[in-house]
Amino acid sequence: MPSLTRRLGYVLGVLSLGASLAHGQSISTVNGEEITMLTGTKTQHTTSIPTNLYQTYTTRITLGTTTGSESTIIASVSGNVSDVALTSALASETSSATLSYLTGTNSHSTSTSNSTASSTESPKPVPTNTRPCNNYPEFCDRKYSNITEVGCHNSPFVRSGSFAANQALSVVDQLNDGVRFLQAQIQFSPNDTVPHFCHTSCDLFDAGPITEWLTTVKDWVVAHPYDVVTILLGNGNYSTPDFYVPHIEKTGILRYVYTPPVVPMALDDWPTLSHMILTGQRVVMFMDYMANQTAYPWLLDQFSQMWESPFDPVDQNFPCVVQRPPDLPPDQAKNRLYLLNHNLNVETSLLGNTINVPDTARINITNSAEGFGSLGLSANNCRSDWGRPPNILNVDYYNMGEYPGSVFEAAARVNNVTYNRKCCGEEASAAGRIEAMLKLPLTLGLMWAAFWTLV
Ligand SMILES: *[C@@H]1O[C@H](CO)[C@@H](O)[C@H](O)[C@H]1NC(C)=O
Ligand SMILES: *[C@@H]1O[C@H](CO)[C@@H](O)[C@H](O)[C@H]1NC(C)=O
Ligand SMILES: *[C@@H]1O[C@H](CO)[C@@H](O)[C@H](O)[C@H]1NC(C)=O
Ligand SMILES: *[C@@H]1O[C@H](CO)[C@@H](O)[C@H](O)[C@H]1NC(C)=O
Ligand SMILES: *[C@@H]1O[C@H](CO)[C@@H](O)[C@H](O)[C@H]1NC(C)=O
Ligand SMILES: *[C@@H]1O[C@H](CO)[C@@H](O)[C@H](O)[C@H]1NC(C)=O
Ligand SMILES: *[C@@H]1O[C@H](CO)[C@@H](O)[C@H](O)[C@H]1NC(C)=O
Ligand SMILES: *[C@@H]1O[C@H](CO)[C@@H](O)[C@H](O)[C@H]1NC(C)=O
Repeated sequence: MPSLTRRLGYVLGVLSLGASLAHGQSISTVNGEEITMLTGTKTQHTTSIPTNLYQTYTTRITLGTTTGSESTIIASVSGNVSDVALTSALASETSSATLSYLTGTNSHSTSTSNSTASSTESPKPVPTNTRPCNNYPEFCDRKYSNITEVGCHNSPFVRSGSFAANQALSVVDQLNDGVRFLQAQIQFSPNDTVPHFCHTSCDLFDAGPITEWLTTVKDWVVAHPYDVVTILLGNGNYSTPDFYVPHIEKTGILRYVYTPPVVPMALDDWPTLSHMILTGQRVVMFMDYMANQTAYPWLLDQFSQMWESPFDPVDQNFPCVVQRPPDLPPDQAKNRLYLLNHNLNVETSLLGNTINVPDTARINITNSAEGFGSLGLSANNCRSDWGRPPNILNVDYYNMGEYPGSVFEAAARVNNVTYNRKCCGEEASAAGRIEAMLKLPLTLGLMWAAFWTLV
């Protein structure tokens, strides 16, 4: 595997940049590969947490945008013949002259196919909603801020049969299986004008131009008209969004993007999934640093609207505390979305260096629905601490766990719904992939994984 050796070389090259006292030392792996490892230096991930890039809003700013009237948007959307799935779904529903199938017991978004008619007409018998929103009929009526979704930590970093990744299955599998939150880190590729999804450097792990992955996600969104998907873009280079926006626009995904009415969005400001679906605003896009909602109201500033528990956690108790933004007062934390980082890392000593790497040996415990160290327990602990469960359960290798799908079981429990879907990936090959991963030499895997654990 010459490319492996080459890539490890890159790893070392980048490490050397940040470690002036680094010394190289060669060892042989079980494969007989020569690998040069660093000695005499300690990788400190925490130093990468910026301290001065957080926006504070003393007042709410009205963005002068509107989320649109459901009936008018539906009328215009259904005229678009490219949207086959949405058009046919809406056509069949509008022919029955009501869209209240999405609202369950709530009549607020009842809407007729005639955009000039209105909900002032006499109330109809309340229908029983059977149409799932994000896989559960119960979610249609809930606010976006009142739902817990499984998230894929570093969603694009997929390499089947390799530890050089955070996920084993593609973004299409992730979405098909029920993941509704995708995290991805953007970097500039020195050889391309389009930014790429890369971890730390495109020499280390290049998941390709952001336009490819975003187009894949957009295509999935087009084909699934009752789903709301959230994307968190990591601004790896802390660049102004001007660098990214033209490329994001090119994918066509902005046609589905959610534009909030105010910034920052407090918990109660969020609309219901039903409203987002009926208005066609089904992609929520956040950026961690440097978002400018004056310039791009739809590119949401993450940390003024969503906090995170510590990343690269090594403690199986997963303390549910605010890490970013730093110094967030509890009363403010309670009024925004929050993300639980539940991807266990382990401190490993490699030739004298202590580094944090994903604890793949314990992934079945970490991704379980219950028990010590599990996602389920961690979500419950967060709920006790904060009065409500996290909005995002961010995990590595979402398809692995106590059993395939246990991460979705954990989310279903805090959502008070029943998980009964199949998981994960293409059924035929899923088992084989997992087995292949586990067979890889652990040391090599740990070396590799060390560089993909940054947020
Ligand atoms: C119709 O939908 C396609 C696919 O999403 C999109 O590219 C196109 O811009 C839409 N056209 C209109 C008029 O909205
Ligand atoms: C929509 O409603 C308006 C006012 O009630 C009516 O004039 C119009 O004919 C209706 N259009 C359709 C397509 O039903
Ligand atoms: C949603 O609201 C219900 C009812 O108040 C609550 O039990 C649940 O914890 C909330 N979930 C989230 C993620 O806010
Ligand atoms: C960029 O191009 C150089 C020269 O062709 C090559 O050595 C390098 O591997 C490329 N880097 C990436 C990230 O593709
Ligand atoms: C990173 O961002 C800076 C400032 O926004 C920009 O000048 C620079 O070109 C970016 N880096 C690359 C490799 O494009
Ligand atoms: C944000 O965008 C607005 C409008 O384009 C611009 O005036 C402002 O300088 C930007 N703020 C930052 C911090 O770049
Ligand atoms: C996790 O996997 C390990 C090794 O395959 C096994 O020994 C252990 O019993 C499993 N634990 C759980 C909770 O499934
Ligand atoms: C959970 O759902 C059940 C039935 O669906 C309902 O009776 C119960 O009140 C719900 N619990 C909470 C905390 O919302």
